[in-house]
Formats: sequence, structure tokens, C-alpha cells
Amino acid sequence: MTHPVSTTDIIRAAAQLKAGELVAFPTETVYGLGADASNTDAVRKIYAAKGRPSNHPLIVHVADAVQLANWARDIPPFAHTLAKNFWPGPLTLVLKRNSKVPDAVTGGQDTVAIRVPSHPVAQALLHEFGGGVAAPSANRFGRVSATTAAHVREEFGDTVACVLDGGAADVGIESTIVDCSRATPSLLRPGWITPQQLEAALGAPLAAPGADAPRVSGTLEKHYSPQTPVLLMEGDLVIELAHSLTRQGKRVAVLARTTLQPLIKGLVWKAAPVDPAGYGHELYASLRELDRASCDAILVEQPPDEAVWLAIRDRLSRAAAGSSGNLSQTPPFFGLRI
Ligand code: TXA
Ligand code: MG
Repeated sequence: MTHPVSTTDIIRAAAQLKAGELVAFPTETVYGLGADASNTDAVRKIYAAKGRPSNHPLIVHVADAVQLANWARDIPPFAHTLAKNFWPGPLTLVLKRNSKVPDAVTGGQDTVAIRVPSHPVAQALLHEFGGGVAAPSANRFGRVSATTAAHVREEFGDTVACVLDGGAADVGIESTIVDCSRATPSLLRPGWITPQQLEAALGAPLAAPGADAPRVSGTLEKHYSPQTPVLLMEGDLVIELAHSLTRQGKRVAVLARTTLQPLIKGLVWKAAPVDPAGYGHELYASLRELDRASCDAILVEQPPDEAVWLAIRDRLSRAAAGSSGNLSQTPPFFGLRI
């Protein structure tokens, strides 16, 4: 993959961050919309640009684990173990916050989320900037995350002055989030790093997240959604429903995995990679592409119920949440229980 970002771009972007401006930048998971995490006014610009409620906390991105102490306190040994094993990389740790962390970053909670991304452009930017960069995914609130610089432009137009283009994000879905603010670590958001990998590194099982676990906006039921209703189902049902909806004069898009394309006139068909890495890498770009096709529904073939697909199934079910209601008034949805 090429990274068309020059040293000059990095120096300029870091200066913009220091001046309190927003900078969108690539990470290995998805693009982030960054601001100086120590500057409350700058952080507020993120919420305004995204249309995100201000009580939803942001992840602070730093160049290396040494900077943990600038943001967190009472860091437990297991958090260091996770940092050693998975940083830089697609893992976010939620820790007890240090008193210097602005409330705007934490949404007023007593914890802070921290990540050391591995993408070379993110690394270069964080090194040049020197401090922490608060950054949510670079999409408007509730929408599909951006995995290319062009997606960021689609979301924000010119309201974000600087978008660093580091190519298509490798992982393609947001980082795994682990709560390390309590006695035993627990998974708050599944991602490319699986619970099994975390447990292997920890040498102990993760705790089930309790009712008192920190809030994660990515765990809102409806999130990561295209405008077009998304319906998630098994492959044979995809074909059946595609036939039946087209017969009713509806325009249908399909994100298929193993199912072969049926001969249906006007059907918008996208074959997703069969492996989880490839699927995750392309997922959001595919959803955006199918969303642009102005269909009445996007039918998605459900990936298998296996550990390696956990994060992808999580994002798909959130993209689909709330959609079935819209279409369920149209027969034959009643009978199909979707
Ligand atoms: O891969 C990623 O994590 C990307 C890239 C840009 O790093 N970022 C990302 O940020 O996905 P965002 O804001 O879209 O999702 C971060 C999630 C949110 O659901 C937020 O609620 C949660 O992290 N979060 C942030 N701080 C937290 C905290 N102190 N406690 C619990 N959850 C927190
Ligand atoms: Mg997000």
C-alpha cells in the first residue's frame, strides 16, 4: 500500500493540531477525526463536526505506551501486559483517568480510553505532534466509519481542513476496546484482536462486562448504519428475498459471501471476501457503495457464528438494527421473521 503523505504534510498537520484545528488521519482500523486532546475548545470541534452527543467519550491516541502515565493513573499490570502485546495496534485500553484529562475527552466519566495506532502516518503525526490526539472515527454520528480519505471527504466536505491520505485502512473495522479500569479486564467492543488473543496474552479469562461498565457509543444498538435499510440473514434467504422483493418492484442490493449471484434483473450484487480479514477490510467501503445504489434494501449474508467473525457480526448487526421495522410492513416480511 502506498502512503502519499509527505513529511511536509505531517509537519503542517501537527501544526494545525497545535493551533486547535481538526485533522483527519488514517489509522490501521479506520480514519480518525483528531484534535489536541489537551485543548477543550479543539475537542469540542470534534463533537460539533460529527454531530455527536458531548457525553460520548473519545479515544486519546498517543505515539507510544510511555505516554500512558500522562493520561491515566493506577494502571494495573494486566494493562501493561496488553499494551506490550498489542501496541502499536488495533487495541484501545480504558483506564482510570488522570486529573489533567479534559472532561470534554472523557464525556465526564472517570476513565479515559487510550490507543497507540500502528499506521505509519498516524505514528508520524503523533510523533511530530508529541501529545495526545483525541479522535473518534471520522464519520458523522451513527454512520458508517471512514476507511479511506475519500470517505472522510464524503462525510465532512470542507469542514475538516486537513485530511491526511494514508490509503485504505488495513483492518477496516474499529479497534477492540478493553476496560482496564476495574479489577479484571473485560471486553467493551470486539475488534480484530479477539477475546481469545487477549486471554492468551493475559493468561486469564476476561470478565463479563458488568452493568457498571463504562459506556461505549459503538454499543448503542443502532450504529455504523447506511441510509438504506440493512437486512441481515442466511444465504438461502438472501436469494429468496431478493427474488420476492424485485417481483414487488423494489430495488435490491446484496452483500454476499458464499452465495452465488442469481439471475435477477436490476439486482445490485457485491461479493464480499470469504475470509474475515478481507471482509473486514472491505466492509465499510462496500456498505457505502451499496448505499449509493439507491436501493430499497441491502440484504447481507450473515457470516458464520465463529470467534473470528465476532467483530464483523457485531458491526453488521448494528448496521442492521432498526431496519427490519421499516420493511416489515411490506409482505412477505411478516412470514420471514427478519
Ligand atoms: O479504531 C478505533 O478505535 C477508531 C480509530 C480512529 O482509533 N476510533 C474509534 O472511535 O472508533 P469512536 O469514537 O468512533 O469509538 C470509540 C468508542 C466509543 O464507543 C466510545 O464510547 C468508547 O470508545 N470510549 C471512549 N472513551 C471511553 C471511556 N472512557 N470509557 C468507555 N468507553 C469509551
Ligand atoms: Mg465511531
